[in-house]
Amino acid sequence: MDLHRLESADLDGGTRTALRALWDRAFDDFTDDDADHAYGGVHVLARDGGQVVAHASAVPRRLRFGTGPWRTVGYVEAVATDPPLQGRGVGRRVMVALQEEIAARWPVAMLSTGSATGFYERLGWERWRGTSFTATTEGVVPDGEEEGLMVLRLDASVVPDLTVDVTCEDRPGDAW
Ligand SMILES: CC(C)(COP(=O)(O)OP(=O)(O)OC[C@H]1O[C@@H](n2cnc3c(N)ncnc32)[C@H](O)[C@@H]1OP(=O)(O)O)[C@@H](O)C(=O)NCCC(=O)NCCS
Repeated sequence: MDLHRLESADLDGGTRTALRALWDRAFDDFTDDDADHAYGGVHVLARDGGQVVAHASAVPRRLRFGTGPWRTVGYVEAVATDPPLQGRGVGRRVMVALQEEIAARWPVAMLSTGSATGFYERLGWERWRGTSFTATTEGVVPDGEEEGLMVLRLDASVVPDLTVDVTCEDRPGDAW
């Protein structure tokens, strides 16, 4: 199995089609918006015999921690291992490589997960403990998404307190 690190701009149409097929195999309810959210940053792909069998990407997003300034951080999207290969360390290898790419770009990363909290905790991620908000055209509103939010602190001084409010900018599809 080979790992490949690529910018979104370097992903050709065939790879994008293969990625969407992977996401549809790995997730029950993957949407076009979810796919859009995965692009615009850096990707790690695992290929086995030419087939894309795992993926993770990180894109720049502006977030606000507590009452601090808006900051550009890495936001991890579309983490998936092909179901027949799950549980063999492939997802971990992909995330370790992605976290090297994140560390080269941003002091902090965040992600939203449903059931994979333990997977990320083994990789150094921490659960967010504050309340989450979305900045919409109507104002900043609590969105109730905090339970699934996790943070990777490469520079802990940027986010010293995980109990403060965290705010994202709204976008089509899931805000977080
Ligand atoms: C979550 C996912 C990416 C993990 O990939 P994987 O290749 O199966 O994971 P690995 O085999 O590398 O697991 C690494 C470690 O995390 C653990 N782990 C894997 N999935 C886990 C989960 N859902 N919850 C808790 N721990 C998990 C493994 O037991 C392993 O632990 P160990 O190091 O103590 O042995 C994969 O299960 C998947 O694609 N799931 C469906 C899509 C999804 O939910 N993606 C995450 C969205 S945020």
